Amino acid sequence: METLKLFYEDALVPKDRILKTAEEIMPEIEKARSVISKGYDDDRAFINLPDDEETLSIVKRTIEEKLSLQPEFLIVIGIGGSNLGTLAVQEAILGKLYNLSASTIKVLYADTVDSALISSIINLVKPTLKRNGNVLLNVISKSGITTETVANFRILIDLLRKYKEGYKDHVVVTSDRGSKLWKLAVKEGFTTLEIPRKVGGRYSVLSPVGLFPLGLLGIRIEDLLKGARQMREACVDADLERNPAAIIACIQFNHYQEGKNISDLFFFSSDLESLGKWCRQLMAVSLGKEFDRNGRKVNVGITPTVSVGSTDLHSVAQLYLGGPYDKFTTFISIENSRSRLLVPLRDDYSDLVPGIDGKSLDEILSAILEGTKEAFRKDKRPFIEISLPDKSESTIGQFMQLKMFETMYLGRLLNVNPFDQPDVEKYKKETRRILAGEKKSDN
Ligand code: PA5
Repeated sequence: METLKLFYEDALVPKDRILKTAEEIMPEIEKARSVISKGYDDDRAFINLPDDEETLSIVKRTIEEKLSLQPEFLIVIGIGGSNLGTLAVQEAILGKLYNLSASTIKVLYADTVDSALISSIINLVKPTLKRNGNVLLNVISKSGITTETVANFRILIDLLRKYKEGYKDHVVVTSDRGSKLWKLAVKEGFTTLEIPRKVGGRYSVLSPVGLFPLGLLGIRIEDLLKGARQMREACVDADLERNPAAIIACIQFNHYQEGKNISDLFFFSSDLESLGKWCRQLMAVSLGKEFDRNGRKVNVGITPTVSVGSTDLHSVAQLYLGGPYDKFTTFISIENSRSRLLVPLRDDYSDLVPGIDGKSLDEILSAILEGTKEAFRKDKRPFIEISLPDKSESTIGQFMQLKMFETMYLGRLLNVNPFDQPDVEKYKKETRRILAGEKKSDN
């Protein structure tokens, strides 16, 4: 299995400083190592998802059962950690334009209460339902009480009920065992998939949250898990120079301390944009905290941004190369893309942009990336590069696992709990209060 590579010569943090900082996370590395294969009792429960054979076989059985219904559509109903990982992997593996060329099941995401979006989804699946074709709903909510998810679920289940007698077989609920949604699913006889209690939303892509919808789309979920398992070995390595998560966390932390509080993930692959959005949520929710672990008000956090090369060079490069020195960049490149598309040789067109005749689009993109890195270098803008061998399941599994470990180590360095989200809960509570017509409380 090929592994991703990390290059950090241009990080502008001396190696001895990186290694010195890394000493601070040694206890966390040891702790992570000690909980491997110990189930889901620790806060770091995500670490053990790649080994969970029992869950994998339940998920695979459920996939088989639901595929036998020959569904034409899968609608994933969930928000934040409950759908971003699935979308990220789906687009990375199957491509952004998957639905346009899908010969089997198409996938739609109902992730917000936007009536235009949900109406479009209804309009897309209605013809299938009208001619008695099948549409699967996968409702995903860890808490089981997220307003957006429940509202969309209720609208879409109503649609299904209208057209399908046995509609209950077409619903899969993924939630915490015992949540309100779980209890409703059991009462209704929907298929249920359990999220291990201590695995938080943004760390749950390798649980049934991501595995069921991804496997249903034909993505090789075992390879995804294998990649994650392989990366886990590297991320718990006590030899810090061989531990990519520790190195990246330490570089980012040093820059954060010096005022670079924006971390840009610059993906040189359009299909990885949603992977960037998954990373953005992971970093923002895990590290943006009002209080540290000692209860002191600290208001820390690194602001994650996502850029796509080369598209965004025509949108943000001016700011990145001319604006304030407040950013740290990670370039993500792909070594082998699946296609080799060439610019045709044609003398009468070659004057338009000299030097591209007969070159592949990959060569051109790679020249643009090299040019961008050189400009960053000359301008002393710090960056690292993660080079992905390809966009396979194994590579994406590695990358996601790396990011989860890196986030956990950054949590240690920032002295915050990377596994809670008290302030997201604040808005959810207020929304529920407003919708229930209750009065504002004073505190
Ligand atoms: O990462 C998180 O914890 C959040 O983004 C949640 O995933 C998101 O709020 C959705 O919550 P739930 O899965 O409970 O519906």
